[in-house]
Amino acid sequence: MNRKYSIYIQYLICVTLVLVIWLSGFQVYQVPNQRSKTKPTKTQVLILTSWRSGSSFVGQLFNQNPDVFYLMEPAWHVWARLPQEPPKLLHLPIRDLIRSIFLCDASAFPPYISKSKYISDIFMWHESRALCSPPACPNSSLTEFYNRLECYITCGKVPLDKMEEACRAKSHVVVKTVRFFDLEVLYPLLKDPSLNLKIIHLVRDPRAILSSRQTFPSLYRDDNTISKAQNSKSNISVVMEEICKAQVHIYKQASNNPQPFLKNRYFMVRFEDLVRNPVDHIRELYDYAGLTMNPKLESWIYNITHDLIPNEKGFFPYSEDSMKIVQKWREQLHFSKVKEVQELCQQEMDVFGYRLIESEREQKNMTLDLLLAIPDKFELIH
Ligand SMILES: *[C@@H]1O[C@H](CO)[C@@H](O)[C@H](O)[C@H]1NC(C)=O
Ligand SMILES: *[C@@H]1O[C@H](CO)[C@@H](O)[C@H](O)[C@H]1NC(C)=O
Ligand SMILES: *[C@@H]1O[C@H](CO)[C@@H](O)[C@H](O)[C@H]1NC(C)=O
Ligand SMILES: *[C@@H]1O[C@H](CO)[C@@H](O)[C@H](O)[C@H]1NC(C)=O
Repeated sequence: MNRKYSIYIQYLICVTLVLVIWLSGFQVYQVPNQRSKTKPTKTQVLILTSWRSGSSFVGQLFNQNPDVFYLMEPAWHVWARLPQEPPKLLHLPIRDLIRSIFLCDASAFPPYISKSKYISDIFMWHESRALCSPPACPNSSLTEFYNRLECYITCGKVPLDKMEEACRAKSHVVVKTVRFFDLEVLYPLLKDPSLNLKIIHLVRDPRAILSSRQTFPSLYRDDNTISKAQNSKSNISVVMEEICKAQVHIYKQASNNPQPFLKNRYFMVRFEDLVRNPVDHIRELYDYAGLTMNPKLESWIYNITHDLIPNEKGFFPYSEDSMKIVQKWREQLHFSKVKEVQELCQQEMDVFGYRLIESEREQKNMTLDLLLAIPDKFELIH
């Protein structure tokens, strides 16, 4: 009996000691720098896509949510700083930059920006609702949906480290990028215990991409970087082929032998499907990302996709009837170009279910639906 009692006392002392050590250790592990030791409290969303694929629009669907810290294309800085280097090599610094942003660490920016003092030195900073509202912008009068013109005037001259504060205040960090041509390079981020990364792979009909590019002049430098890696002068055919190949490659990497860490972390969506039914699709994307929809936001999404916010026109290139945007290329792109891009991107069109057309008559016949079911729709991990 006595022996049993002393064993019991020893046991109690042990438990108390362990508790004391654990509790004091717990204090130490709360230090913010020990990020890898703490469970991720945020969710990070990477919108992975290519140029002119509707990603500014999809980015806004997240950006307008008050729980989101959004940056549009921060990887622009890497390509701008290193324009002579091939996209494959630049994947790595871009991955590092995005990882830092995901962790609300602005210190990765300065090497890419010559002045790097203000939030306004970040590419497309005024597209970010979080950078246009307190704490990043104390002078902002933002209420519900932000106004980028007002933001542009009021919120630029704010020190860069305010960005970190703005980011930390949100439950979700969303980054859009067109500069990854491969999924594998992102595997370390998917496996990183300090992140809870969700990838949204956004694809679009390459004929619409080409058509949209023709009226969008500022892609010369990016085209040059892509073409140069293929030993070519800046050449739109080379660029289209590379972009299409990359989308197929990413999708196949996710769907052929899917890695266990991709489970619930990769979601492919076609821009055309999204636009046909924006409210339902954004709901699905929000679910996936763990965000909640509110009625105001839903109403805004409906309005922005049905040309019901006329005063934003010009500023919001997507504040139009989105169904019309989807079909625009059929009126604008010359049939010879359609044939060319169908050849360059045949595999992409096949994989993502974009119907090929054989004549100009088919191109102009708007009752002919060019969106097919995806042949081997990959559902496993979504
Ligand atoms: C906010 O507004 C005040 C008064 O107009 C001005 O002095 C201050 O510089 C502004 N702050 C920022 C960060 O722009
Ligand atoms: C662009 O590249 C294609 C081959 O992919 C070639 O046929 C075409 O002549 C090139 N165009 C120019 C303007 O160099
Ligand atoms: C959307 O438009 C309707 C009708 O014009 C309007 O009543 C509603 O307030 C708008 N919603 C938002 C969030 O702007
Ligand atoms: C347009 O396409 C529809 C659906 O395929 C077809 O029924 C119709 O005959 C076509 N019209 C013309 C003018 O080709």
